[in-house]
Amino acid sequence: MIHNRTETKRRDFIKLMTLAGGSFAAMHALNLKTFAKEDIEALIKRNIPLVKLPYETSALAPYISEKTVKQHYNDHHLAYYKRLTGYLRKNPEYSNRELVDLIQKTRGGILLEDALHNFSTLLWNHNFYWQSMKPKGGILPPVKSQLSKRVVQVYGSIDNFKKAFKEKSMQLGIGWVWLVQVKYDLQIIRTKYSESPVPSPYPPLFGIDIWEHSYYMDYGADREKYVDAFLNNLINWQFAESNFVMMKKK
Ligand SMILES: [Fe+2]
Repeated sequence: MIHNRTETKRRDFIKLMTLAGGSFAAMHALNLKTFAKEDIEALIKRNIPLVKLPYETSALAPYISEKTVKQHYNDHHLAYYKRLTGYLRKNPEYSNRELVDLIQKTRGGILLEDALHNFSTLLWNHNFYWQSMKPKGGILPPVKSQLSKRVVQVYGSIDNFKKAFKEKSMQLGIGWVWLVQVKYDLQIIRTKYSESPVPSPYPPLFGIDIWEHSYYMDYGADREKYVDAFLNNLINWQFAESNFVMMKKK
């Protein structure tokens, strides 16, 4: 029997999917023509973003040291990206999903889906975290900005907002704290461990990582000092404002 190249690729794909434990339904979710290894790589590259640091590794000092930024980015953030993309190469039936869609699809799953979910959320959270800060940050945009007005309207004052954010950040346990926009309101929410605030109809404006690897080398066990530095010297309010305006336009 003579097989053309497409047929051979199709049979290879089915073989791979069977080995990977994939279902035929899942197989058909992907265009069979995308089986080629370079196409899987292209899908991963398109769907799984890795944010590069938007500043030098030393730029957040003295509030977050260069050593912490380097270790946090290279040993944690980059590692999550590599682990996730490694799983996707071995399980290509998931590789046609964008990152947030992948988080949604794998939520509540077990084994492979649990691993995919945790690495997806950790990647998304870290991508967002680095953008939530900037050198010489922490200063709110002018009062005419929509977000500045809302922060003061909702919390009474900037100091009250910082107090509420710090209280949430100081609750026991590791995870993340986010300022999210809920329609025209603002809320400070916390997600535990690797959990992410997305997907949600109320996406975040900015977020802070309160895992110990974020601050331990600089502040020891003093999380409060780290949160103070984040609030007063690092928040990228322009980034938060851009998220706020984008949501209002939808
Ligand atoms: Fe982290």
